[in-house]
Amino acid sequence: MEKELIFGEIIISEDDIQKRVAELGREISKDYEGETILTICVLKGACIFMSDLLKKISTETNIDFMAVSSYGDATSSSGVVRILKDLDSSIEGKHVLIVEDIIDSGLTLHYLRDYLMGRKPKTLKICTLLDKPERREADIAADYVGFVIGNKFIVGYGLDYQEKYRNLPYITCLVENEN
Ligand code: IMP
Ligand code: MG
Repeated sequence: MEKELIFGEIIISEDDIQKRVAELGREISKDYEGETILTICVLKGACIFMSDLLKKISTETNIDFMAVSSYGDATSSSGVVRILKDLDSSIEGKHVLIVEDIIDSGLTLHYLRDYLMGRKPKTLKICTLLDKPERREADIAADYVGFVIGNKFIVGYGLDYQEKYRNLPYITCLVENEN
């Protein structure tokens, strides 16, 4: 029988998330000073992070959205990516910043980066709220990382387990119920 998953400890508090997001916003604003950024939110997980981040960026910013799904089981991805929603407009010649919730195996983002590079952006960078480097299978690194975390399955602040818990304002882990 499949074990029940319950909430474990809080990994990152709401306050710590907000402080770090503000720092990332300042860093990005400085790096792109005088330029226009096109931020691409990778749905659905990055929606809350991107909304908060945008408010902390002072540089001119346009936004667009992509939805991808990686074939895999409930808690890991397979590397085969399907585009569910593509961008609304061209990225050619633009400063593109992909905004992700988490890099785990890196397979999804590796695919997405190559896919978008084919459309000839002027620059392409990656901003992720969370990074799980221990789990990496694809050769990919983000330019901006909110927090490096260990090998735990986490939910909240956009991240889900079976579409649940995205609305939590903090990040907590899910663990197997031993009872
Ligand atoms: P990757 O292709 O393995 O890097 O996985 C990327 C996607 O898997 C992320 O954008 C998340 O949607 C999902 N994911 C990876 N780790 C977690 C986690 O700990 N909690 C919730 N979703 C996760
Ligand atoms: Mg995601």
